Amino acid sequence: MILDLPVRLRRNRKSDAIRKMVQETHLLPSHLVAPLFVIEGEKKREAIASLPGIDRLSIDEMLLVAHDLYEKGVRSVALFPVVDSSLRSSYPEEAWNERGLLARAIRSLKKEIPELCVMADVALDPFTSHGHDGLVNETGKILNDATIDCLVKMALMQAEAGIDFVAPSDMMDGRVAALRKELDQKGFHNVGILAYSAKYASSLYAPFRNALQTKLSFGDKRTYQMDPANCREALLEAELDEKEGADILMVKPALFYLDVIAKLRPLTNRPIAAYHVSGEYAMVMAAHEKGWLNADLVFLEALLSIRRAGADLIFTYATSRILSFIS
Ligand code: PBG
Repeated sequence: MILDLPVRLRRNRKSDAIRKMVQETHLLPSHLVAPLFVIEGEKKREAIASLPGIDRLSIDEMLLVAHDLYEKGVRSVALFPVVDSSLRSSYPEEAWNERGLLARAIRSLKKEIPELCVMADVALDPFTSHGHDGLVNETGKILNDATIDCLVKMALMQAEAGIDFVAPSDMMDGRVAALRKELDQKGFHNVGILAYSAKYASSLYAPFRNALQTKLSFGDKRTYQMDPANCREALLEAELDEKEGADILMVKPALFYLDVIAKLRPLTNRPIAAYHVSGEYAMVMAAHEKGWLNADLVFLEALLSIRRAGADLIFTYATSRILSFIS
């Protein structure tokens, strides 16, 4: 029997040529930002147990990885320094050390591959002994305003080293305005701000904290990172960051928060970044290792869905794995 169907949507799915022609969303290497974990030393690569396929890299190895990514079309990386515990403290001066690991990593990247866009977090957690993102007072409160001087110093150190985007990521108030003002005053008009605008207090950051070897010595991050129950608040955060001068707005994590990305999309004309975080990567890799699914295919689908929701750029640990499928 032949159905009397004037509309047959399968006609547009008939061949690869037609499917490509009507494809609504695209994923390119230039949409991806590769997070890179940097350690001291030479010719060092340490596997990260919680992130299969991702290594902590000494600066020379990091340069090799960045070159390879750049050759394959990736245009941006985000640096995360893994500093020795002896350099962590409650007033973490290492965070703005001009000769520290992060400054050296930025400098060598910008020297070796000047066209590569280099980003780094502006937050204290890799450098504090207690693992929180801000200064802490005697009663255990995380201090909003007192922390800003540290963040300004950290951003200026990164700007001096040649950073393209500083990324305030502590989810406290007034960060973007303060950083923009200081960067401009010191002549860094061309250093951009990628604001972690809607960053949720998520359980999905655990593998990242393992990679950075940070652990909270008390409490949690719920007085500064956002409640997963809230969406309107995320839109307010993004609106504020845009008004304060952010160049790019981020939603993080990505997949559990696609609704937030989709709701933010029509409200801003700024680019939206999404962070496909460590837990999102680790869950898929764990299932892959058990043979239950194919990680590369799942990542391609996940990243496409993040683009479909409205993100322009995506930070993802899957970057190098999936490049051969999209370039
Ligand atoms: C630091 C920071 C975190 C992540 C990125 N920057 C951890 C945190 O806020 O505890 C998480 C990234 C990931 O899980 O991949 N503020």
